[in-house]
Amino acid sequence: MAVMTILGAGAMGSALATPLTNAGWETRLWGTWLDDHLLDACEAGKPHPRTNVPLASGTKLYRSDQLDEALEGADAVFIAVASVGVPKVTQMALGAISQASVVLCTSKGFWTDPNGRIQLLPDAIRTIAAENGALLPPIVGVGGPCKANEVADGKPTATIYGSLDEGTAIRMAREISTDAYCIEPTTDEPGVEVCAPMKNVYAIALGIADGLEEGTGFPHHNLKSAIFAQSVKEMSIASVALGARPETAYGLAGVGDLEVTGLSGRNKVYGVRIGRGENAIEALAAMEAAEQTVEGVPAAGLAMTLAQQQEGLLEQLPLLKAVTAIIAGAEHPEKLVAEAALPQRP
Ligand SMILES: NC(=O)c1ccc[n+]([C@@H]2O[C@H](COP(=O)([O-])OP(=O)(O)OC[C@H]3O[C@@H](n4cnc5c(N)ncnc54)[C@H](O)[C@@H]3O)[C@@H](O)[C@H]2O)c1
Repeated sequence: MAVMTILGAGAMGSALATPLTNAGWETRLWGTWLDDHLLDACEAGKPHPRTNVPLASGTKLYRSDQLDEALEGADAVFIAVASVGVPKVTQMALGAISQASVVLCTSKGFWTDPNGRIQLLPDAIRTIAAENGALLPPIVGVGGPCKANEVADGKPTATIYGSLDEGTAIRMAREISTDAYCIEPTTDEPGVEVCAPMKNVYAIALGIADGLEEGTGFPHHNLKSAIFAQSVKEMSIASVALGARPETAYGLAGVGDLEVTGLSGRNKVYGVRIGRGENAIEALAAMEAAEQTVEGVPAAGLAMTLAQQQEGLLEQLPLLKAVTAIIAGAEHPEKLVAEAALPQRP
């Protein structure tokens, strides 16, 4: 039986145990130093606190001080920590990762390298390996519309696995897919990785349209649909500028993930609060005080910097600019998103 070690026992790390176990992997779940309470609940036979779904039976649990045991002889390693933790956890696991046949990453975000340049997460993993003189197996970036609780519960899910190594993308799709968790392989790793964090930014804009409806009592569906279309267009433009294929944004990684993120979740809730008329800075502070991290907020700033680093890109992303301004407290969010998403008079 092939061994998969999942690094990070939060919502998504624990959820992945369901398809992996069903696909016949020996599944090991390693919790970081922040995850003891999550593993306590699982060991006590309770549902995982983040998904409300019991962990797949047979999953082996490892505490933060048992990383070596968790990784011993692993054929594959799945990084599932929050994007901020990817560099540190990669570094900690580098020895075993370089022995594995593949490293997969479901984390969604950008990374700022020591020179201030923004990188996609697989490139961050490559940089860290190179700095440490470690060889890496092929990397698979995982994206698409996958809410952790539904994956954990075995509900039908479409996901996209992107690897520059086509054979690896296809092999992982073959070896991890189940009847419910269905994987589309692609070689467009950068396309998957550009869409993953950017859709969080655009989900804030979708939330603003929903909030306008709540605040005014009148639907803003036309505006919301225009925002959706502009979001997809901007993800595709940014992808191409970063060496990816345009069509990836129009599939599971872009449209699919934007739809699921815009239906629920913290980015959308934050946008709704702004659309209802709350001050953006106060709304964010209130959410953070309730430990509701809004991933789209840091992603917006990093995406702006990334776009500024590419000649002529930022001017093509008016909605990204509008959301960033709104997050910073700009007045009249309705006007700003409308100006960015509606066609300009010729
Ligand atoms: N929840 C979902 O539906 C979902 C779906 C697809 C992808 N993702 C992505 O998976 C990643 C994890 O999300 P989640 O929902 O499991 O979050 P979560 O908050 O439930 O778990 C976060 C995990 O990251 C670890 N972590 C947090 N901060 C860290 C740090 N500073 N250093 C090291 N480790 C740290 C935690 O210990 C935990 O294991 C995110 O990048 C997210 O975008 C989540």
